[in-house]
Amino acid sequence: MGETLLHLAAHPLAFPFLRLVGRCGPVVRVPGIGVVVNDAAVAHRVLRDTTAFGKSGRGSSGALWTPVLGPSVLLNMDGPAHTELRRKLAGLFTPAAVEAICADVLAAPLARAERRLAAGGTVDLVDLARTCAGAVICAIVGLDADEAECRRMFARGEEIAATVRLSTKQLSDRQVATARRVLGGITGPAARAYAAGDPSTVVGRMRELGLSEREALGAAAAFFLTGTETVASFLPRLVALLCDHDRQDAEPGAAVEEALRLTTPSPVMLRAVTAAARVGTVRVRPGQRVVIATYNCTRVPGRGFAPERARPDLGRLWFGSGPHSCIGYPLATAQIRAVAGAVLRHAPLRVVRRRYATGVLIPGYRVLEVARA
Ligand code: HEM
Repeated sequence: MGETLLHLAAHPLAFPFLRLVGRCGPVVRVPGIGVVVNDAAVAHRVLRDTTAFGKSGRGSSGALWTPVLGPSVLLNMDGPAHTELRRKLAGLFTPAAVEAICADVLAAPLARAERRLAAGGTVDLVDLARTCAGAVICAIVGLDADEAECRRMFARGEEIAATVRLSTKQLSDRQVATARRVLGGITGPAARAYAAGDPSTVVGRMRELGLSEREALGAAAAFFLTGTETVASFLPRLVALLCDHDRQDAEPGAAVEEALRLTTPSPVMLRAVTAAARVGTVRVRPGQRVVIATYNCTRVPGRGFAPERARPDLGRLWFGSGPHSCIGYPLATAQIRAVAGAVLRHAPLRVVRRRYATGVLIPGYRVLEVARA
């Protein structure tokens, strides 16, 4: 129930509409919106077919960011240039690198939260997750930040995301100006980290991996746009699911995977049709838009939150698929493991207060206070 209310608070009209479309078949043509995909297998095929479906064409999510970030920031690139940049970035988020980032920057905020829980106090997991996501992004751009600066960093990302709705096809001049101003807070420090070339910073490592300054700053901005709210919104939802379903004893790995499926933090993906093709049985032609309703694709009839049951093979669609699949997932999962591990060490927990976030792109809690049961 908590999850449904959370979606309704974020998207009171779009969520019921999306669910309704989800019941109309695996692929549905919706006038004014595009061809909507509700089936995981079809979604994987579309996402892997980069000849017919692009992320940089009009109507794609990537194109939305081109006026803000320029044409070459990973999430709005296609073809050989995209492949080449992904190849250069392949060594960036290795297991050792992401563990080191998390151990370094999350230790202080997590220790503080643990002390409060141990003393019988309450911790707002929304604030904790935002601080942690902000700390990680500060580490990525090479900012040595205190907790207040980490929160400010997160708020910057929120300010940009707030300009976008599920229906947004193009940013207005004002939105572009706001996003550029806000992103200056990222690219400024990132440029200094690149110039310093310190391999202990992520931007410094990008320089080592052969990225030009423009590529490295673009990648840092892309990480900021895609990798803060997704992970921060997920963490409180994970703990709320464990509390609401009385499953705090679940095996952590299985619980996280099942919660990622159930919440699907990034609920839709967009593609522009670039060549005549079929989406399932529906014919599409260049200029049209495909909306992958990831959230619909990852529903399993009759199944709620069930970490212990065998998962249907959805190919981790919640992290995308094919060449544009989430490059930050090792960092996301390391962050989730660190924060959830610290909080759940004090299980059993109970939810003391919860508020749902309204007017947000990515559904989430505005407040989720927990304490030891
Ligand atoms: C739970 C957390 C996360 C979820 C659910 C998630 C989900 C996704 C999904 C679904 C895509 C594919 C979008 C598409 O094909 O249109 C994607 C791409 C991407 N993600 Fe994540 N993400 C998460 C965390 C992160 C983090 C922490 C980072 C970086 C630090 C990150 C960076 C990226 C980037 C740069 C792309 C674009 C890749 C490309 O276009 O080549 N993500 N993510």
